[in-house]
Amino acid sequence: MIEIPEEFARQLIDREGDPGRAWLASLPGLVDDVLQRWRCTPTGLIGGKVGIVVAVQRDDGTPAVLKISFTHAGNRYEARAFATWAGRGAVQLYERDDAKFAMLLEQGERQTLDDLGDADHATAVLGRLARRLAVEAPPNLPLLSNDADEWDQTLCENSKTPGHPLSQRALGAAVATIRDLGRNQPSTMVHGDLHFGNVVRAQREPWLVIDPKGFVGDLAFDAVTVLHCSLDSLRRADDLRSELHRRLAIFADAAEIDRERAVRWTQARAAMSACRGRAVDDADWEAQFREQTAELLA
Ligand SMILES: Nc1ncnc2c1ncn2[C@@H]1O[C@H](COP(=O)(O)OP(=O)(O)O)[C@@H](O)[C@H]1O
Ligand SMILES: [Mg+2]
Repeated sequence: MIEIPEEFARQLIDREGDPGRAWLASLPGLVDDVLQRWRCTPTGLIGGKVGIVVAVQRDDGTPAVLKISFTHAGNRYEARAFATWAGRGAVQLYERDDAKFAMLLEQGERQTLDDLGDADHATAVLGRLARRLAVEAPPNLPLLSNDADEWDQTLCENSKTPGHPLSQRALGAAVATIRDLGRNQPSTMVHGDLHFGNVVRAQREPWLVIDPKGFVGDLAFDAVTVLHCSLDSLRRADDLRSELHRRLAIFADAAEIDRERAVRWTQARAAMSACRGRAVDDADWEAQFREQTAELLA
């Protein structure tokens, strides 16, 4: 029997309301069911934000990780992404129950790229992983190109809002990127949430990714990761524009993508987040940081 952490339960109910409450009530039964079917014994709770992550031991003695996510559309394609990579650059998928959003995964170590304490090295590791993971996508994963019209529309609507925190120049640059690069994208698989915390140390390969969204599109879409990693050191930079370009160059070179393409996608995604962030909370420093990035990279 697994004890559901109170903080996790509270946050899930705050975010998801009654469906979250109902899912939480079913979770202990769900965990017991898959542990039994997949012949595993829990050895400790690891955590998780959108779902529960439990360290387990399989009955042949191998360590593994059980992840059961809240049944939200955004978590639907994770198992398919892992199955497609088949362990190349990512943890292996041992078992899956898609209806229950449950997976049994290869267990990596506790250390993530976050613990490396070397942002440049970690960014290069992310870039190399992004390149390895950019394989031909299987059918029926969400296409990033399908979002292009909505992005275009949101940016254009925001550009008409008086007193908008983003300049016309920054909004215009983002619209141009979506029109130039967003509508026609390659059919490669993109991790979609590639940040330092989603890369674990391992034995089979030095680093393996976890927690993919499984999108289809341009791998430069993930270059925005440089904004989500080592934020404190970015905020302390004397010249943020140069520092952003420097880190994007590290990512782009390691991922073998055009530097300018990485800059353009990052600028567009920062502008999109700035548009979304404004509606929810227009004063927090993260929103300001995204706005600043969208300006500096335009
Ligand atoms: N296969 C794994 N091996 C080792 N640790 C893992 C594994 N999967 C998840 N974790 C740990 O659990 C944490 C949360 O898992 P993750 O899949 O990233 O879910 P979330 O959507 O909550 O971020 C990770 O940051 C990592 O520390
Ligand atoms: Mg994660």
